[in-house]
Amino acid sequence: APRKDLAGKKVLVTAGPTWEFIDPVRYIGNPSTGRMGFAIAKAAWYRGAEVTVVAGPTTAEIPPGIRLCPVTSALEMRQAVLERFEAADIIVKAAAVGDFRVDERAPNKIKRGDREWLELRLVQNPDIAAELGDRKRPGQLLVGFAAETEALDLHARAKMERKKLDVIVANDITVPGTGFASVDNRVVIYDRCGGRLERSGSKEEVAWALWDHLETLQGR
Ligand code: C5P
Repeated sequence: APRKDLAGKKVLVTAGPTWEFIDPVRYIGNPSTGRMGFAIAKAAWYRGAEVTVVAGPTTAEIPPGIRLCPVTSALEMRQAVLERFEAADIIVKAAAVGDFRVDERAPNKIKRGDREWLELRLVQNPDIAAELGDRKRPGQLLVGFAAETEALDLHARAKMERKKLDVIVANDITVPGTGFASVDNRVVIYDRCGGRLERSGSKEEVAWALWDHLETLQGR
């Protein structure tokens, strides 16, 4: 049986993509499956935590023992996360949140008609992780993710600072067979104390390694 190092802890995880609807039948999304977030949730549950997952639309298998809060858009995710943030000891933001949403969603299905162009105006979504960074109280641990295509160290560390995260888990999404929608992952974990460690393996193994590292940061 695993050590219950998270016994008595409340863990809040976000997972999956967000969908930003354009009209009643179309949306802007991304290839996130939610598998990394659910692996993190499952590992936390095994280690004794009370776990809530706020998940965007996903077909991933929902692990046992977790409380699931399904959402669709970034704004819904923000609402659900803010409602649950106060009660959480550790927050892991593994969701791939859409940076933009459609300014005015068409009430009816957009027809091709005889137009050659269709313009969509997008507006920026709020950065949920950054909002949590601002509201974080002492003792709360905030973990973010970063999918990068270049200069991993630089961009990940900058994101950790800017969003006031304690830890950031970065993956280079240009590496084939890792990242979005794959079984395996190769990540670099950075922490606010200057730590940097590389881990690769299944998303379950990476999740377990992340909790091992977070355990060393608790109370520091
Ligand atoms: O800036 P970027 O989107 O790459 O940052 C990734 C991290 O920020 C992830 O942890 C993601 O869940 C979080 N995020 C968020 N709200 C957004 C965008 C990203 O919480 N609107």
